[in-house]
Amino acid sequence: MKSAHITRLRLTDFRGYGALDLDVDARPVAIYGPNGAGKTNILEAISFLAPGKGLRGADTEAVVRHEGDMAAPAWAVFAEASGARGALTLAAGARLGARRQTRLDGSPVSRAALARAFPMLALQPEEDRLFAGPRAERLKFFDGLVSAAAPEHGEALNAYDKLRRQRQKLLEDGRADPTWLDAIETDMAAHGVAIAAARLDALSRLQAEIDAAPDTAFPKAGLALDGATEADLAAGMKSGAAEDALQNRLREGRDRDGASGRSLSLGPHRTDLTARHTGKDRPAGECSTGEQKALVVRLALAQARVLARATGAAPLLLLDEACAHLDADRRAGLAEAISGLGAQAWLTGVERGLFNAFDGRAQMFEVIAGQVTPR
Ligand SMILES: Nc1ncnc2c1ncn2[C@@H]1O[C@H](COP(=O)(O)OP(=O)(O)OP(=O)(O)O)[C@@H](O)[C@H]1O
Ligand SMILES: [Mg+2]
Repeated sequence: MKSAHITRLRLTDFRGYGALDLDVDARPVAIYGPNGAGKTNILEAISFLAPGKGLRGADTEAVVRHEGDMAAPAWAVFAEASGARGALTLAAGARLGARRQTRLDGSPVSRAALARAFPMLALQPEEDRLFAGPRAERLKFFDGLVSAAAPEHGEALNAYDKLRRQRQKLLEDGRADPTWLDAIETDMAAHGVAIAAARLDALSRLQAEIDAAPDTAFPKAGLALDGATEADLAAGMKSGAAEDALQNRLREGRDRDGASGRSLSLGPHRTDLTARHTGKDRPAGECSTGEQKALVVRLALAQARVLARATGAAPLLLLDEACAHLDADRRAGLAEAISGLGAQAWLTGVERGLFNAFDGRAQMFEVIAGQVTPR
């Protein structure tokens, strides 16, 4: 199996990096160093080479290099890489006040083409407590997994959310024209059903992948989607009928949504992802921090395999602080799983010792105050 991997990474005026030029091979890359050294910044830079909002959802003003009061005029990330169809170059960057541009082999590229050519998957430290945390964060995490394999899902989510905010504003203003609201809700229903269908499809692939692999350091999870439109579709409703049902819920919810100032109507923005730790038969949210992290890692690894099959290349993995909360056995399991996948995982951690299980199987870099040194 091929892997999506970077061979050379260059950053220009990105966060703390004026000019960084790293040569790497296809093996995992472990980056260690103290807090604030600039480890996550490297992963964030790579994340801008994929469709989406980047690892931290930051805008150009935040990521462009600042020194005192002075901001650089633009930032850029460039990578020589290899994907499902061989060698390629990836570039991303933005001038202050302008949108980010992403290029594949020097040309602008659609989200879908980029995701196919160079699949990528990210896991962030905030996601460790995903199953005990707020519903919206969990849904965002799951939608991120779905979008990595189906970039049109991200577009449908953006379109739906734009319409939802537009409708909400009209309802709160209290002088909306009902035919206008009808039109918005019709569009919301079409996008909403597409969103729910893509989630169900992704969930069944993910669950099959989880069930197919043996129980390792990472426990199995039983996943389910708790959402009105997802339930309609799962019960066999045709998409036209599901759209009508969603549109009705939105129409009937107008007064309540307007009065409460929140979109309480049961659309796909209110869906939740639930998970049970299969071995313990407990809801994931009741498991220990480390157990929850292990579940989240298992989901991400399973989705990585789904993506590998869909694109023909193991996705590049951005695993920020992946070893935090994991004991030595689970760290060894992570090293095993990444090797098994053949993926170029970019890992960060505060100490080299966290990556002992990767010795020989990963390239090590030490970062101290923005200085990156191969070790
Ligand atoms: N726009 C910017 N210009 C210059 N420096 C920046 C900019 N944005 C962030 N930084 C610097 O980057 C550093 C943070 O880097 P990063 O988040 O990569 O740290 P880290 O090594 O991942 O640390 P931790 O272990 O705490 O997660 C901070 O010191 C911050 O001052
Ligand atoms: Mg960090």
